Amino acid sequence: MAVHESVRELIGRTPIVRLESASRETGAQLYAKLEGYNLTGSVKDRAARYILERGLAEGRIDRDTLVVESSSGNFGIALAFACRSLGVRFRCITDVNATSMNRFLIEQAGAELEVVSEPDASGGYLHTRIRRVLEILRSDPSAFWTNQYASAWNWEAHYHGTAQEIHADMMPRVDHVFVAVSSGGTLMGCARFFRERAPGVRIVAVDVRGSVIFGGAPSRRHIPGIGSSRVPEILDPSLVDDVVEVDEEAAVRECWRLLREESLFVGGSAGAVSAAMRAYPWSSRPRGRTPVAVAIFADRGERYFDGLYDARWIAARFPRIATASRRAAPDPIEIWGEGLASAPAQP
Ligand SMILES: Cc1ncc(COP(=O)(O)O)c(C=O)c1O
Repeated sequence: MAVHESVRELIGRTPIVRLESASRETGAQLYAKLEGYNLTGSVKDRAARYILERGLAEGRIDRDTLVVESSSGNFGIALAFACRSLGVRFRCITDVNATSMNRFLIEQAGAELEVVSEPDASGGYLHTRIRRVLEILRSDPSAFWTNQYASAWNWEAHYHGTAQEIHADMMPRVDHVFVAVSSGGTLMGCARFFRERAPGVRIVAVDVRGSVIFGGAPSRRHIPGIGSSRVPEILDPSLVDDVVEVDEEAAVRECWRLLREESLFVGGSAGAVSAAMRAYPWSSRPRGRTPVAVAIFADRGERYFDGLYDARWIAARFPRIATASRRAAPDPIEIWGEGLASAPAQP
């Protein structure tokens, strides 16, 4: 359908493309579902639209509601646009790490923006932001917290959307789905859908080193959108077949490889899932049938132009990636996949 009556109709039905170079290299058929094609450029548009529409339909949200959420990036932008489209007030609790472009987009969409600056015990801002959300909920009876880490509506958005689309477009061919994890919404929606509808499909969760989601030790992380310093309430690891933990450096290298070899300009979590998919032990799979995998690429690269596509940003955080000039590719990019570790899902 080419003509739409609302910008909210520009959410979902995203394209899937074969990664030609990576498929040649691995002998598997590797595909990417490009969530950057959604309205505000990320997979989080799906959860934002679904949670708001469900809240309105069930009377939990009305025109007097103040929707609140803690986000420094994609979810805040997605909620801001969806709230304006639906005529609902939104206050985004963000922190000093949010980029000026993200703040600009949230404010231009008509949302109220609150910026916290006090680091929490882990050195990040997540817990400070959540504390502020809880204060607002206590003081304003009209407030509704979308609560992406705990709301079943977050994963339901992907159960009815992302997963259903992959199934419709690619079954019976696909046998692996790779998903980056932060709140766990995308992962849980896909895992539940495929458990029910095509249980032979392996669900591979991709996290980064330093995230605690699958029991790893916390450490400083730099790539937005993947990993977390808390375990999401909606996560059920028993529905996941494999967990691949990617070194952030490997994710950055893979972003550059995707740009230069696959002509795809994507964010860091897409680099991480792509690195995990390429490093997966495809050659040890049973012979006779070429494995087919799809990775969900959560967003586009533009938002990170001054981040993981900037040589000075990289040099300050990943000194092992040598860069010759401001926009030069990390060198050597040949050691992609280095630092990947695969672990079985926890019970
Ligand atoms: C770029 C990016 N990738 C991946 C994710 C992970 O999605 P989920 O919150 O559904 O786990 C997010 C979530 O914010 C994101 O912004």
